[in-house]
Amino acid sequence: MTTYDADFWEKQYQATDPTWGTTPNAPLVATIPRLRLHPGRALELGAGHGGDALWLAAQGWAVTALDVAHTAVDRIARRAADEGLADSVTAVRCDVTADPLPPGPFDLVWGSFFYAPDREAVVRRAAESVTPGGVLLIVDHGSAAPWSWSSASDYEFPTPAQLAESLEVGPDWTPEILEAPQRIATGPNGQQAEVTDTIVALRRTRRS
Ligand SMILES: C[S@@+](CC[C@H](N)C(=O)[O-])C[C@H]1O[C@@H](n2cnc3c(N)ncnc32)[C@H](O)[C@@H]1O
Repeated sequence: MTTYDADFWEKQYQATDPTWGTTPNAPLVATIPRLRLHPGRALELGAGHGGDALWLAAQGWAVTALDVAHTAVDRIARRAADEGLADSVTAVRCDVTADPLPPGPFDLVWGSFFYAPDREAVVRRAAESVTPGGVLLIVDHGSAAPWSWSSASDYEFPTPAQLAESLEVGPDWTPEILEAPQRIATGPNGQQAEVTDTIVALRRTRRS
């Protein structure tokens, strides 16, 4: 059985074309304007090659991008420097299940297709650093693309409401977007397929 630990992700990135995943995820780009947030401080869980982080930084955000894979973090930092965004992107090697998370407050904490052991606990811990008025945004797969690295074909993807509930962030949050839109996605070899995304955006109303 595959263990999705630091070693797994390191090898994944070493074997992956550095340009893969460098464009922002379409659901994130579509969702951010709907959140009506002024660019502030943002924290990303499982940033990969940093497509989202670099895009947000280009929109004026100060982004801290976390990933367990050194290769991914190094590539984000290099690209940020190449694109003149080094002052706006801090790429940090961090195992979010075990290491301390950067101190907030953050106006936005998000993860796109971020999966890790005990992910709900990680997300809850990260959500603590969201300032009142800020947003916790999770973009997940709502279906398996044909090129997915996970081969579990009988897996039932949670609905947005189920996903939001599973996070158990408590009474200080209100659901703002719970949606499962479909789109045509492009895989690593240029192949195309219809996929479903699960989008959960929760706004922090107060800090109790
Ligand atoms: C499916 S990829 C998504 C990457 C990126 N967000 C994207 O949309 O392209 C999941 C990411 O989570 C990272 N990851 C997995 N476990 C982690 C952990 N314990 N701590 C930090 N990052 C982790 C992986 O290295 C990988 O980059």
